[in-house]
Amino acid sequence: MIIAEDIDVVRNHIKSWKADGEKIGFVPTMGNLHKGHISLISSLKQAGATKIIASIFVNPTQFSIGEDYTEYPRTFDSDQKKLRKHSIDLLFSPSTEVMYPKNILSELTIKYPEYNNILCGEHRPSHFSGVLCVVNKLFNIINPDIAVFGQKDYQQFILIKGMVRDLCMPIEMFCAPIVRESDGLALSSRNQYLSKQERLIAPKLYESLKEAKISIDNKLKIVDIENNAIDFLSKNNFLVDYFSVRRSKDLKKVDSNQSFNKSIIILTAVKIGRTRLIDNILIS
Ligand code: PAF
Repeated sequence: MIIAEDIDVVRNHIKSWKADGEKIGFVPTMGNLHKGHISLISSLKQAGATKIIASIFVNPTQFSIGEDYTEYPRTFDSDQKKLRKHSIDLLFSPSTEVMYPKNILSELTIKYPEYNNILCGEHRPSHFSGVLCVVNKLFNIINPDIAVFGQKDYQQFILIKGMVRDLCMPIEMFCAPIVRESDGLALSSRNQYLSKQERLIAPKLYESLKEAKISIDNKLKIVDIENNAIDFLSKNNFLVDYFSVRRSKDLKKVDSNQSFNKSIIILTAVKIGRTRLIDNILIS
């Protein structure tokens, strides 16, 4: 596995692989890799990528003020061992200066008005413009044929897919299913912030989603489904940012009369102690 910190080194390798007809698959990460990330690598291979590139970069611009940028787990040594084990061809691990050579505040910003201010965007100002900015830079550096993102960050996936479409980027986009612990908790680097007690109740988040799915199957009113879930989560000491039933293709609100036969996603974000967790469930 090649480890590169410089943009030119990455570009040279990729240029020669592309000249040899290789199909470049890309999985961007912030490190602290777990089985969820590894499943993204497998889905790139299934999608036909012949060279796999991963990046590890904890992107400062996607953390809002007061969030966990400084304490975000940085575990480069164990991450690179895991990537070697899964036959990654190149790991791009740039410094902040490489990714943001100018003052961050003077950077171009990318906004997606339709999505920036809903769901997670409403609760994490500037988060998605930071994500779009860094993913755009990474796409320009790697020039991938295929890119994969996890379903757990579904809103992020929809925004990036929209950016790829609107900016005419020739990249095939894949969304890989959520990987869960045996008790249902979605894998996330932030799970390690949970205390023992919080970890015990955290799977109730997935329980609330499964319960809401059953209620949708039973055609209960959407507003009641959302309120019941918020009540359930609040009673279990979660601070609920949102619990919302949306159309999966564009995250528009669903109204009970209209959409039971449409593709739906139920999304939620909560805080438990100091940890923010997100999760969702797709219903076709
Ligand atoms: O999902 C993540 O880990 C990050 O948001 C991403 C896509 C790597 C951008 O920093």
